[in-house]
Amino acid sequence: KVAEEAQKQTLGVYLVGGIVRDLLLERANHDIDFVVEGDAIAFAEHMQATYGGSVHSYAPFGTAKWHLDADTAEALGIANGKLPDHIDFASARNEYYLHPTALPTVYSGSIKLDLGRRDFTINTLAIQISPAAHMWRIVDYFSGLDDLKAGLIRVLHSLSFVDDPTRILRAVRFSERLNFKIEDRTAELITNALPMLRRITGERVRNELNLLWQEAAPESGIYTLAKMGALAAIHPAFKAPSHLGKLFKRLRARDLHQESDAYWHILLSHLPNEDITAIGERLLFGKPLITAIQATHTILYELPVLKENSPKPSRVVAVLGAMPAFSLEIAALFAEEPMSTTIRTYMDSWQNVRPKADGNTLKAMGLSTGPIYSQILLQLKNAWLDGEINSQAEEERFLE
Ligand code: CTP
Repeated sequence: KVAEEAQKQTLGVYLVGGIVRDLLLERANHDIDFVVEGDAIAFAEHMQATYGGSVHSYAPFGTAKWHLDADTAEALGIANGKLPDHIDFASARNEYYLHPTALPTVYSGSIKLDLGRRDFTINTLAIQISPAAHMWRIVDYFSGLDDLKAGLIRVLHSLSFVDDPTRILRAVRFSERLNFKIEDRTAELITNALPMLRRITGERVRNELNLLWQEAAPESGIYTLAKMGALAAIHPAFKAPSHLGKLFKRLRARDLHQESDAYWHILLSHLPNEDITAIGERLLFGKPLITAIQATHTILYELPVLKENSPKPSRVVAVLGAMPAFSLEIAALFAEEPMSTTIRTYMDSWQNVRPKADGNTLKAMGLSTGPIYSQILLQLKNAWLDGEINSQAEEERFLE
């Protein structure tokens, strides 16, 4: 239908980006991106007026998102479940950069200029679907097909990483995902551009690495980034621990890898607390994540009682009581024995132990209120934990 409407308007429209690359590699991809040689917003609005749904556009960039719904499915004659959530349209554009790392400025331009501003040759492939009917031809201005066949990540020009240093991280991510090699000259350009990584905002670096976590085995991407000096360029204290692969695998085996920044906990918790803070601030983590990773570090490395064989439960509860649940989960997964079992036992039972008595019990005994209440209740709890009290009768005797 997009082709049909574009043909009626004799508008050049191209399917572009990751979906073309992935179609040719026979990999799943549900992000449908079209480039329009003209006004993409007007075209998206026309599609919406004809087939329903809704359009959200962003005029400064000449882009529009066409959100599809059940009515659109019916109008298009497609089963609702098979319809993508949205389709992106962008006006063909040529970006230039006022200065490196600034937001791009948008011009109207031809498809070739649009594709020529992209990161890697394999991402410059397009499928032309209009203006003539039945076109459906692959557009390959930058030898993307050759590189796709050869399995190579190659930039289009020597300033690509200077224009946008996050492409260094993207190169590693694609090479990891597709099992492609970073072409030699491209690798050399990466080495030269590494110092530029220092200038990228924390948010962009973090987002890019978060995308790496979506890959099947992000550890090899992290090792590559460490080896090429990219982690150190992001922050001098940023290093990959040698046991990373083993730990990442263990995380995936427990299906914990998509949870609450789990990979970040493993990547950073081996570092001293001041480095966790420095890197967390560099990547704009926000306080809760920095604190949680520091807690994981503390549990794993700074609590000698956890290294003892059969420590008194009350001593364990005293040190783990304030720790975030996810830090405990991660630490239990990665600690050696006997620490791992101790943390698990804390999580499964000790943290829930409470005495039978409460403030009202103490009041009924005629005790005047004050800090003594919490001291007594803590003593009671510890006595239960350490097996000195095993029944209500014993607790009552203890209280007397
Ligand atoms: N792009 C770029 N430089 C960047 C980010 C993106 O040149 N720093 C280009 C790429 O050529 C890409 C297009 O913008 O084809 C869309 O970006 P994105 O959606 O991130 O890329 P995909 O190739 O679709 O990646 P993925 O499969 O991970 O979604």
